[in-house]
Amino acid sequence: MSKAELHIDGKIIELPVIEGSEGERAINIENLRAETGLITLDPGYANTGSCESSITFINGEEGILHHRGYSIESLADNCSFLEVSYLLVKGHLPNAAELEAFTDSILGHTMLHEDLRLFFRALPKDAHPMAACSAMVSALATFYPDSLDPRNEREVEISIHRLLAKLPTIAAYAYKHSVGQPFMYPDNSLSYVGNFLHLMFANPCEDFEVDPVVEKAIDLLLILHADHEQNCSASTVRLVGSSHANLFAAVSAGINALWGPRHGGANQEVIEMLGAIADEGLTGKQFVDRAKSRDDTSRLMGFGHRVYKNFDPRARIIKKATFDVLERLGVNSRLLEIAVELEELALKDEYFVERNLYPNVDFYSGVIYTAIGTPENMFTPNFAIGRLPGWIAQWLEMHEHRHKIGRPRQIYTGETNRKIQPIAER
Ligand code: ACO
Repeated sequence: MSKAELHIDGKIIELPVIEGSEGERAINIENLRAETGLITLDPGYANTGSCESSITFINGEEGILHHRGYSIESLADNCSFLEVSYLLVKGHLPNAAELEAFTDSILGHTMLHEDLRLFFRALPKDAHPMAACSAMVSALATFYPDSLDPRNEREVEISIHRLLAKLPTIAAYAYKHSVGQPFMYPDNSLSYVGNFLHLMFANPCEDFEVDPVVEKAIDLLLILHADHEQNCSASTVRLVGSSHANLFAAVSAGINALWGPRHGGANQEVIEMLGAIADEGLTGKQFVDRAKSRDDTSRLMGFGHRVYKNFDPRARIIKKATFDVLERLGVNSRLLEIAVELEELALKDEYFVERNLYPNVDFYSGVIYTAIGTPENMFTPNFAIGRLPGWIAQWLEMHEHRHKIGRPRQIYTGETNRKIQPIAER
C-alpha cells in the first residue's frame, strides 16, 4: 500500500493511500487527529470521501456513471425502474422469479393507512408537494412502530418495501390535494409507474388509460435519478441514519435535502427559467449574460455539477428521450427550443467553458415532464421517487459497514474567554 507523508511541526506523519476498484485514490486520515491534534478543513466536502461504497461509481472528468458495475446507458436501455431498484438495494440484478416476488410485494403495499390519508386534509392547498412528501414519510414511522429497528433485517426489509410502495401514493396524494381532487386508490393490476400515473391523473368520473409512451418515459426518468453516490441528499440520509434513526426518518430528511434549488429542486427552477425567458421575450444570449453577471444572482439552472466537469451522462439520455417523446406525442415545445439554444450558447461561452459547466440531469428533465403532463411542482417529487432506492441502498450499506455516528469537526473562530457583564452594564 502506498503512503503519503505529512510534514508538520518538525514531524513526519505517514498516511495510508487507499485505492478503489476503478483506480480512485484517497489519503486515509482516520488517525490524523489522534496522531497530530490537527483536523482537516474542507468546506462543502469537495475533497472529502465520507465512506467506501460499492453502489455507484462516477468519473466526473469523463462523464461516466455506473451502478453496481453497470453503465447508466445499459441500465436505461435494458432494465425497468424496479429492476434497477432491486440492483441498488440488493447488489445484483434480479432473475425473473426474484423480480416477480419483489414487484408483487411492492405492489401489495401501495395503499396508505386510512388515517394517514386524513393527514393531507390538514395541509394548506398550496403546500409544496415536497414538504408534504417529507412530512408523510416521517409520519410512516408513527404507523409502523413494528419495523423501525435498523439492526433487525426483517424489519428493515418490510420498511424498504413499504417506502418504495407508498412514496408514489404519497406524492400523488400531495398533488391531488393541491388541485382539490379526490384521492384515488392504487390499482395494483398496473405497473409501478402505471399505478403512479393512475393515482396522479385518474378521477372517479372518467375512464383513465395509461399512455405507454408516458409510462416508459417516466420509468426511464426514474432510472436516471436512482442513485448518485454521496450527493447532498444521500449524505443527509447517511448522516441521519448514522445516529441509528429509523429508515423513514432518514429518508424524510433526504427528501428535504433534495428539495433545495441547488440540488433536485433545480428541475422545477429550470422550467420556471425557460418559461420566464419565453414570457419576457428574452434572447438566449441575454439570459446567458445575466447568468454570468456578478451583479445578478441568476444562474443558468440545470448547468454545472460538483462532480461532473464534463457532460452529465444522464443529461445526454434525457435530451434524446425528450426529442423522441415529443415526436411520438406530436408536441412542439417552445421551451425545448429555448433549452437547446441556451445549451448551445453556454457550451461555446468562455465563462462556462472555463468553469467546466455542462448541462446536468435537471436541464432537460423539466421539458420532458412538461411534455408528458407532469405539473411543475411535481418534478422534484418525481425525482424523489426515483432517488428513493439509492437512498435506501446508501442507508443499508452504511449499516452493513462498521460506521461511526457522522459528526464533522470545525475550526472555532469566535470570541474567547469573555466575562459576563451584569445585565444593567451591557
Ligand atoms: N450558472 C452560472 N454560473 C455558475 C453555475 C450556473 N449554473 N454553476 C456554477 N457557476 C459558477 C459559480 O458562480 C462559480 O463561479 P466563480 O468561480 O466565478 O465564483 C463557479 O461556477 C463554481 O460554482 P460553485 O457553485 O462554486 O460550484 P459547486 O460545485 O459548489 O456547485 C452546483 C455545483 C451547486 C450544481 C452549481 O453548478 C449550481 O448552482 N448549478 C445550478 C443549479 C443546478 O442545476 N443544480 C442541480 C445540480 S444536479 C443535482 O443536484 C441533481
